[in-house]
Amino acid sequence: MRTCFVGLRTSRRFWKCGMMLSSVIIVIEVIRIFAIKHVQICAVPQAPVDMETTTRATPNNYSFPLEIDFHELLADIEADRPVSVQPINVHQFSYISNPKNMCRVNDLRHRWSLDGKGKPFFLLILIKSSRKNFHLRQTIRWKTKERRFKKWRRRVRIVFLLGYSFNESNSEIARESDIFNDIVQEDFLDTYRNLTYKTVMGYRWATKYCSVATHILFQDDDFHFNVANVFYFLRLQQDTDSVYIGHYIEDSPPDRHNDSKYYMTYDDYPHPYFPPYFPGGAYFISMTIAQKFVKVFPYVKHIAIDDTFLGIVAYKLNVTLHDSGLIAFGGCENFTEIISCRGYINVQEVFSGWKEFLQNLGIFKTKSEFFSVEDATFEPIHLQGQSKDLHTS
Ligand SMILES: *[C@@H]1O[C@H](CO)[C@@H](O)[C@H](O)[C@H]1NC(C)=O
Ligand SMILES: *[C@@H]1O[C@H](CO)[C@@H](O)[C@H](O)[C@H]1NC(C)=O
Ligand SMILES: *[C@@H]1O[C@H](CO)[C@@H](O)[C@H](O)[C@H]1NC(C)=O
Ligand SMILES: *[C@@H]1O[C@H](CO)[C@@H](O)[C@H](O)[C@H]1NC(C)=O
Ligand SMILES: *[C@@H]1O[C@H](CO)[C@@H](O)[C@H](O)[C@H]1NC(C)=O
Ligand SMILES: *[C@@H]1O[C@H](CO)[C@@H](O)[C@H](O)[C@H]1NC(C)=O
Repeated sequence: MRTCFVGLRTSRRFWKCGMMLSSVIIVIEVIRIFAIKHVQICAVPQAPVDMETTTRATPNNYSFPLEIDFHELLADIEADRPVSVQPINVHQFSYISNPKNMCRVNDLRHRWSLDGKGKPFFLLILIKSSRKNFHLRQTIRWKTKERRFKKWRRRVRIVFLLGYSFNESNSEIARESDIFNDIVQEDFLDTYRNLTYKTVMGYRWATKYCSVATHILFQDDDFHFNVANVFYFLRLQQDTDSVYIGHYIEDSPPDRHNDSKYYMTYDDYPHPYFPPYFPGGAYFISMTIAQKFVKVFPYVKHIAIDDTFLGIVAYKLNVTLHDSGLIAFGGCENFTEIISCRGYINVQEVFSGWKEFLQNLGIFKTKSEFFSVEDATFEPIHLQGQSKDLHTS
């Protein structure tokens, strides 16, 4: 190759080099196409289990405002008919940061038919994060540079959900948002007891600005995801619009201790049990269901804990929750078999990945002195078994 470039001056050699380069490119391309085909047919990740047995609510009293027929309500909203009741839970926050164009894709559906059936699956990953978890966001961004992920890039978008922090100036987030353009942020205070606002913000944003997505993986910023398994799982489903899977919890009592951050007064929620729900740490949901949720959110009384709020909404809409080991809360030991799992294998993994990402990009030196490797202190305390603590400021 070197002699080739040295000789570029004479046109005959130039021509020869051109031919040689073209041949090389053709060979590489052929290999690439074969490799891709091969990967799609053969290198399916270790079989993730199918949607597991469907579980239904036990006959507890889950009555909760508004007590109206939600099927009728939804039908009215979907048909653009006037609704006879007033909303009781209007989401009244405004965007501080909104990457509106993130999901704008040239709709080349035929190019997406990787699954053989021509279903153009498109995944949106919504990640609840908090201001201080910059290192976790960077780890996730870095993961998208990996080979394993690149293959799916065109059909995946990742967005971080944040609230507002009064205390420190919000400019750090503004800068991060400028650089990466992947932060959705509204002007509610970023606290644990405001998580429902964050979740509702995520749903509203997804259905409005990313409706091209067919499915949403909703998770905390300390969860790993396995995108290949998402698509593999979807290919196995008969009805991909009913996909709503997670770590199923039922007969969970409200926490009545007034010093707990999960505290629920009897006014908040009067019954001994919540309807079944998926812990907010991670779950996977179809856009079809997400759209139904968004439409009825304003008619369900606000409750501070987001996963129980969604459980109530799902119950009112009679949406079935599918229990699934694909959403693993017990660690990432079986990474090849899951869609999402909590926790990093070890602390070193997070740190080295993140550092490498920063260095590779070299972006920080020029654009923002704030994000320097040296500055970025690592906080292992946020990594293991504390996902509930992650989103408080
Ligand atoms: C369910 O609880 C509500 C209070 O929220 C109460 O008014 C209603 O009578 C209860 N229903 C039954 C069947 O116990
Ligand atoms: C939630 O956010 C609102 C708006 O910023 C704020 O007024 C309220 O205090 C927050 N609530 C909690 C519990 O942090
Ligand atoms: C919290 O509950 C304890 C008893 O369980 C009670 O003594 C205390 O006054 C309560 N605190 C508040 C702020 O309601
Ligand atoms: C709720 O869903 C289940 C299963 O999808 C169905 O059998 C049942 O009839 C539904 N109930 C109502 C009230 O729509
Ligand atoms: C990994 O899979 C094995 C075998 O199915 C299981 O026993 C183990 O609990 C799994 N580990 C985690 C962290 O889920
Ligand atoms: C906000 O400021 C108060 C007092 O100035 C301080 O105690 C608190 O730690 C700050 N909160 C955060 C999240 O930095």
